[in-house]
Order: sequence, then structure tokens, then C-alpha cells
Amino acid sequence: MNRITRATVHLAALRHNLAVVRSYTAGGARVMAVLKADGYGHGLTRAAGALTEADAFAVSCLAEALPLRAAGHRHRIVLLEGFFGAEEIPLFRREALEAVIHSPWQIECLEQAPAGEPIDVWVKVDTGMHRLGFRPEDAHAARERLRRCEAVGTIRWMTHLACADDRDDPTTTAQRRAFEQARAGLPGEASAANSAGTLGWPGVHGDWVRPGVCLYGVSPFIDGGERPPLRPGMTLEARLIAINHHRAGDRIGYGGTFVCPEDMPVGVVSIGYGDGYPRHASNGTPVLVRGRTTGLTGRVSMDMLCVDLRPVPDAAVGDRVVLWGEDLPVETVAAHCETIAYELVCQLTSRVSFVYAD
Ligand SMILES: Cc1ncc(COP(=O)(O)O)c(C=O)c1O
Repeated sequence: MNRITRATVHLAALRHNLAVVRSYTAGGARVMAVLKADGYGHGLTRAAGALTEADAFAVSCLAEALPLRAAGHRHRIVLLEGFFGAEEIPLFRREALEAVIHSPWQIECLEQAPAGEPIDVWVKVDTGMHRLGFRPEDAHAARERLRRCEAVGTIRWMTHLACADDRDDPTTTAQRRAFEQARAGLPGEASAANSAGTLGWPGVHGDWVRPGVCLYGVSPFIDGGERPPLRPGMTLEARLIAINHHRAGDRIGYGGTFVCPEDMPVGVVSIGYGDGYPRHASNGTPVLVRGRTTGLTGRVSMDMLCVDLRPVPDAAVGDRVVLWGEDLPVETVAAHCETIAYELVCQLTSRVSFVYAD
């Protein structure tokens, strides 16, 4: 038996999730599929191949945009942090990439750029995230400088929502108003909505929505409300490599943080933090053995983790263990690890073999 630690990416699920997004954008907003961080850990070009029906792609940097062009994608590609230095501008021109402009230094680069193909830009307005972007009161002047630049083509607008994952949080409505005020009387398409904005806040859709995590089947909401009809984009699985029968009082793993409350079978599974499974997963974090739910016992080690086999007395060495995927949302696992599903799917290491299924 080989060590099996495998992520199966469900390409049909990604397509389904894009269709779900479309069903939420009945107002006609176009969809910019966010593919950064290696397609949220699902594989950049494979995810893009499944999402070709999107109207545009978004990534964070040239290192993510160029492989999409090399793979033959002629979609519009928006770089969400724009260029990181003037030396990148020729590549934006050559590959017809669109740049988010968030800071005055980027405008200076464009003002000083040699004559050439104009670059389409998105003016980033900070309406409350307080990370990147021009203050709403400065947006008008930033746009005016860009309008006078020969290096600049079409000018559009972008902002990012800080709290849309909570459908009761008033911040999103305040951000929508601030975005409208910043653009008042000025032309240009606008985009504000991430996954949570797309699925939970129709009022912020504007011309373009920018879903990321929901395309991979993860619900963006933290509020416990209705879950959108998404399908998981990834199943992470490993195998039972040993079954041991421990006595009441035996302590399992590093630090002995799980103490057997009775005589019990404990399974050892071929995955650990060296594969990207979160070390912070606490005792009881759910896993599926033979399709039945059980939980972690003790700390996750680099190559292995242990599971309680009392709910699966018929378990056998070689059984498939699902860490997340169908019937076990990665969001549920994340909740046991004090993190978010985004981080879990992005952090799998090269030791995990990726398989693509339709
Ligand atoms: C600017 C921007 N737009 C859209 C997204 C997509 O967000 P989400 O994955 O929550 O849909 C991100 C991701 O963080 C982002 O940084």
C-alpha cells in the first residue's frame, strides 16, 4: 500500500458553483472569477479551465496571470493589487492585463510610463476595509489624474467589503453608500462584491461581482443563516494505516492531550501538518471513516493523526478517511481549528497528490 494523501478537485462542482453565482446575479452583473493563491489551492489553470464561462478572471500578481495567458486563456484578467513596480508595466501591456490602482505611487508610475498600449485600470476606493485604496474623498482626484494619463485606457471602480460574511452587519450598507458617493457623477463600471457580497447582498452587485471562495464550494457566511446550494470543490482523503486498541487512561500523541475514557480502538491516518492538515485541529475535529463521522484524538503530528474508532468498530487498515469534502464541509473543520476554510484549502503542501475529476 502506498501512502495515500490525496486531494480530488471536482471540476464539475466548480462549474455548478459558477452557475449558482449566476442564479444570484439576476440583475445582470458580470462575474469575475477570483483564481488567486493557485485557485484557492485547487490548481490555477485547472480551476480556470473549469470556470471559462466566467466573464473575467482576477488574480493577485503577474506570477498568477502569466500562466493563465500561457494556458491560452484570452479572458480579461484583473490583477487585484495592480503592478508592484513600474518594471511590470510592459508585461501588463503585452498581456493586456488590467490593474487595480490603489495608491498614488502607482499613478506616478503610469504618468511616467513610456508611450505604449493603454492599460485598463480599476480605481480602488477604501470604503471601510481600511487595507488598500484611496479614501472616498480622494477618489475623484485620483480618477482625474488617471484620466489625463496616456498610459491609461478605460477607468473602472472597485472597492472591497469587510464584513459581508455577516448578513446582519450594517457595515456593508455603509460601504455601499460610501462607494456610491465617491463615484457620484463619474462614469465607469463598478465592482464591490466578493462571495459574501454576491450571495448575500444583491444591493452591492453593481456591474461586476468578484466571487472567490464560493466558486470552490465554501459558504462565505459566518452567520449561521441559510447555506447557499454550493458543492464542495475538493475532497481531501488519506488512509487508515494502523488500528491500535488502547486502555482507559492511555494518552494519545504528543503532549498526551487526549486521554482514553475507556478501552477503545484508535486509528492512525496517513496525513499530518506536513501535508497541510491544520495542526491546530482540536480533539474531536470531525473526519469520516467508512463514511461515518468520528473525531480526532490528540494532536496532529507531521505525517499522521489519530482518530477515535469507537463509532466505526468495523474499520480496517486501508480504509479511506475523508478529512473534508462531500458530507464534511471544510468550513466545519475550520471551525474546530480556529481558522477559516480559505486557509485550509490554500495550505495543502506538495506532498498531497492532486487528482482532477469531472
Ligand atoms: C479584492 C478582492 N476581491 C475579491 C476577493 C474574493 O473574495 P472571496 O473569496 O471572499 O469571494 C478577494 C479575496 O480575498 C479580494 O481580495
